[in-house]
Amino acid sequence: MQILKDRIRKDGKIKAGNVLKVDSFLNHQMDIKLFGEIGKEFKRRFADVEVTKILTIEASGIGIACIVAQYFDVPVVFAKKTQTKNIAGEVYTTKVESYTHGRVYDIIVSKEFLGAGDKVLLIDDFLANGKALEGLAALVRDSGAELVGAGIVIEKGFQVGGDLLRSEGIRLESLAIVESMDEEAQTIVFRDDE
Ligand code: G4P
Ligand code: NA
Ligand code: NA
Repeated sequence: MQILKDRIRKDGKIKAGNVLKVDSFLNHQMDIKLFGEIGKEFKRRFADVEVTKILTIEASGIGIACIVAQYFDVPVVFAKKTQTKNIAGEVYTTKVESYTHGRVYDIIVSKEFLGAGDKVLLIDDFLANGKALEGLAALVRDSGAELVGAGIVIEKGFQVGGDLLRSEGIRLESLAIVESMDEEAQTIVFRDDE
């Protein structure tokens, strides 16, 4: 998606450890006009599938998922990150191992809001190692709902998440795939640049 790649080049900041900071427009301050364009683009790419629900994960997936959902005209459910297990039975739950943060956390979704008959589109801002998205896919599986695809704003193509999810047969649409980044020169190569 060209306007997104242009915006990443203009306002993204490359930090040590292959971290791309986009918090002036994506996941701290949010450019809602850009989010609208992103919503339109996901709707275009998933025009052939029926979607009844959008599922994301707190915190930074929520804003983008809400705007995207307006174009699909469906509710948004966000998985909660939690340490407490006393709600077992009423929720779907799975463990997510965050490589970046070096910790394991539980994610939960109430059984009330996901179930057989739902056709679920996953939406998230970043795809790196793919553990969060794999966790969401596991919750969808447990609920008996159908996973119709995953829409990602920025995929870090040099990390394993994208390949992992595609190899599992998940239909993955990433609007910008970063192939490589150079911190010193502050330059970014996207996958489909040539
Ligand atoms: P994974 O889910 O793909 O395995 O992600 P990983 O553990 O590698 O990353 C941990 C968190 O850091 C995730 O946010 C992910 O979106 C975010 N992240 C990974 N790489 C980058 C990057 O280059 N730039 C930015 N800005 N974020 C990155 P999260 O756990 O979902 O936290 P939250 O911010 O949504 O609360
Ligand atoms: Na994040
Ligand atoms: Na996120």
